[in-house]
Formats: sequence, structure tokens, C-alpha cells
Amino acid sequence: MSVAELVFGETIGPEAVERFRRVSDLERFFTALDDRDRLVATSGVLSFQLTVPGGELPAGGVTLVTVLPSHRRQGMLRAMMRRMLDDVRERGESVAILWASEGQIYQRFGYGLATYSVNLEADMRASAYARSWPREGTFRLLTQEEAAGVIAPIYETARTQRAGFLSRTAAWWVRIAQDDDTKKGGEAKRIVVYETADGAEAYAIYKVKSEWNVRGSTSTLIVDEAFGSTPRGTLEIWRYLLDVDLMVTLKTWHLPADHPLFLLAAQPRRLGATIGDGLWLRIVDIATALEGRTYGPGGLGDGVLTFELRDEFCPWNAGRWQLAVTAGLATVTRSDAEADLAMDANDLASLYLGGFSVTALAAAGRVVELRSGALAVGDELFTTALAPWCPQEF
Ligand SMILES: CC(C)(COP(=O)(O)OP(=O)(O)OC[C@H]1O[C@@H](n2cnc3c(N)ncnc32)[C@H](O)[C@@H]1OP(=O)(O)O)[C@@H](O)C(=O)NCCC(=O)NCCS
Repeated sequence: MSVAELVFGETIGPEAVERFRRVSDLERFFTALDDRDRLVATSGVLSFQLTVPGGELPAGGVTLVTVLPSHRRQGMLRAMMRRMLDDVRERGESVAILWASEGQIYQRFGYGLATYSVNLEADMRASAYARSWPREGTFRLLTQEEAAGVIAPIYETARTQRAGFLSRTAAWWVRIAQDDDTKKGGEAKRIVVYETADGAEAYAIYKVKSEWNVRGSTSTLIVDEAFGSTPRGTLEIWRYLLDVDLMVTLKTWHLPADHPLFLLAAQPRRLGATIGDGLWLRIVDIATALEGRTYGPGGLGDGVLTFELRDEFCPWNAGRWQLAVTAGLATVTRSDAEADLAMDANDLASLYLGGFSVTALAAAGRVVELRSGALAVGDELFTTALAPWCPQEF
């Protein structure tokens, strides 16, 4: 049994291991052995391009963090995190990202909550849209083998529309589109594409969990992901999913809180939404990360902010910085000027993708306003029209 199986209590089949290996770079895995050379801790970094406001940046995706119960609280995670963040920095990735099993584990290392994650448990019988619309286009079910060529371009467009999305290699598409748990009794993945005269505009990957009782079907539709490259595509693909016959409940994970579905639905409460933490982010190189995104309304803002940053785990980031923005583009330099704001590394991380305003962080007692009016300047620069969205765990 692998360390990961022992720690997470799941059986991981050989095919799933092989698919994971293909998206991984073994040089980026950091492990610990005991005195008899047995593996007792694992961690690794996956290489992604992360969509940020106005562009994309290389990002290190921290994954597979496990320490055997027998070796916990002896500093192994701390040592592995040191190695991982140093590796991220050496490779020129300015941010690290992760999904946390428990949020409290990573904040001490400078990670901040970067996106919300909204989960749905929707009542499909009460899922009508509030408005009618002209139906057009058709749906087509794809085989897993033919899917990537059709759906990847839709994803590529969706990926540019909000910060938080991740790039996908061909190996990632195999992992995402092909089955990895049918042999363990799991449900097969189905892939549907929505097409109009303008081409393919949306797709969904979903599974059917079939259950019946004396009154009929109580089955659940599990949506792995559904994206439209156009508003019409998003509207239609969700209509398709919510209308699948015999299904009673639709479950999905990791939507943004401002997903169009909440405005489409006649009864948003019946979507059964719950909110939790999504992607966690750590800024590893302040100047590169901050200069790598755009600022202000439409990514065209102007303004100057000086901030004092505390950063114990990556001390090269600590100190006073000036962010000078002209027509949306930033120049970030060390500064001796009086600071407008003071914050910790994890607070800047929460601001970075635009999902939390400076005012919201101040309201939580995290960012401190040192010059009156600085919160408003920060809000204008950092927040984005659409919430960031990371739909993919890794
Ligand atoms: C989470 C886990 C990796 C921590 O590993 P570890 O080697 O025990 O952690 P360390 O000894 O390096 O601890 C580093 C610090 O984090 C703290 N910490 C570690 N795990 C924590 C947890 N689950 N909750 C709160 N604090 C935690 C430690 O107290 C320590 O604090 P300090 O620096 O103030 O002394 C390990 O407990 C584990 O494998 N858990 C189950 C799997 C899991 O949740 N993995 C994470 C997947 S995202």
C-alpha cells in the first residue's frame, strides 16, 4: 500500500497511478525516508500555467502532501514545503497554488484563500430557468477517445475568461476525460458537446449514479465539469444537464459564487449551494507575480499603492513595496515611502486573483489601512469584474 493510500484511506488503482505519473515531473517530487529507507512522507509540485487577471503565469501546483501518522508533527511537512517553495522560486514560477484538505495547514506557510468554491446539490425537478430563450443548436455525446480534440478548444476559451483556471496538457486531458474508477465500481464518464452553426460552444463531463426505490428513480447526476465558451453555450449545457431524464439530484463542485446558473435559475435556493474554500495561493516572488497581472476596471486602471509586507517563510518578499499602475500595467519596486497598507503574505495572496477586496480583508482585521483612502485605491486596482474560478483539483 502506498503512503498516499495509507494517509487518505482510498485505494488508488495502477491505471490512476499511471495517469498521475504522466502529468507529473518526477524531479519535482520531494519525499522523506525513515532510517530503514522506507517512504514516510511525500509531496510534489505540478507545473501549470495559471490564468491571472489579464494573462497567465507559470505556477507550481503543490500536491500529494502526505506524512505517515507515525511520523507526524516532527517537521516533515515544513521541510518539504521549504524544498517545494525553493524549487518553485528556482524555476521562475512566481506563485504556488494548492487545494487543502484542511485550510489551517497551509496558512502558516503564507498561503491565502484565493477563490471560493461553491458546491451544488440541486433539486432537478425545481430547476427551471427564470426566462425563456430561443432554443438553437444540438447536443452530441462523444466517446472518451474523440472528446479531447473537440472539448479542449472550448476549455481553452473558457480558461481565458476568469482568473484561477489551469492549463491542461494532453496527459491532463486523458486524466480528466477518461475513466479512472469504473474498475472499482465507479460510474462511467459521459461527455456531451453543444454545437451551433458557429461551432462547438460548450461541453460537460458527467456521470450517472443510478438508484431506485419503490416510487421510482432517486438517481444522481454528477457533473465533473461544464464550460461554455459563450453565454449561450453555458446556458444550454446546464439546461441539458438539469434535464437529463430519471435524474433527481444534480451534484457538482467548485463553481464560483457568481456562476451564471444562480442568475439563470428561477429558484436559486433549489440549487442547494454550499460555499467553502477553493484554491489557496502563495506568492513566491512579489515583483514577478504582481507585474504579471493587470489592474483596475477592464484591466486598464491607474493608481499607486505602497504596502508593508510581512513574510516569515519567504523572507525575500518581506518589506515595503510600491505598486505603480499605469493603464492597467504595474511596475513593482522596493520603496522607502510611507506605507498605505500593511498586510501579511497570505493577505496579498487573497487579493491576487481578484476574489477578495482589500476592504473585505480589512473588515476581517487582516489588512491594515495606514493612509485614509488606501482601501478604496486597493479595491479599484485589485478586484475583478468576475470572481476567480479554479474548477480543477490536483
Ligand atoms: C498535514 C500533514 C501533511 C502535516 O505533516 P507534519 O509533518 O505533521 O507537519 P509538520 O510537523 O511539518 O508541521 C508544520 C506545522 O504545521 C502544523 N500542522 C501540521 N498539520 C496540521 C494540521 N492538520 N492542523 C493544524 N496544524 C497542523 C504543525 O503543528 C506545525 O506547526 P508549527 O510550525 O507551528 O510547529 C500530515 O498531518 C498529514 O499527512 N495529514 C493527512 C493528509 C493530509 O491532510 N495531507 C494534506 C493534503 S492537502
